[in-house]
Amino acid sequence: MVEKPPHTDEEWAVAKQQAARLLSAAERLTEGGRRVAVKDSKFEIPGVKKSPEEIQQLIDAKPEIYFRYAQQLQAATEETLAAIDAKNATALLEIGGRIDDVCEQCHKTFWYPDQPESKQ
Ligand code: HEC
Repeated sequence: MVEKPPHTDEEWAVAKQQAARLLSAAERLTEGGRRVAVKDSKFEIPGVKKSPEEIQQLIDAKPEIYFRYAQQLQAATEETLAAIDAKNATALLEIGGRIDDVCEQCHKTFWYPDQPESKQ
């Protein structure tokens, strides 16, 4: 998510906006009861043909795991905001890596569980 640390005040401000947007998305995920609402997904992954209904079924089968990932994302995003406020670029990159992991874990569990391991 964050590839290179911000330097200027302006870059820090942009980073903060992005983190704030991510936080509200994470909060929406943790609200729970939210239905998967993708009709025409623009993000096609080759070999992945899960319909929103199938994804929703996976979530309904393991809601606590879904919720845990959503909470992890929210917590890590809150840390991101704190790192931005402190202008701590090192912390920002470290937390960014953890956020990527949470995205990936949740997607692997609920979005493309049939996908063979494709880590580099
Ligand atoms: C709590 C689980 C969870 C977490 C955490 C999560 N996602 Fe997702 N994401 C999903 C699910 C489930 C889908 C597929 C269904 C959908 O699109 O709603 C998805 C779909 C997506 C899509 C495709 C949307 C579309 O229109 O097809 C993108 C892009 C995405 N996620 C990005 C991210 C990023 C970036 C992060 C981390 C910052 C993240 N997600 C974290 C569950 C999660």
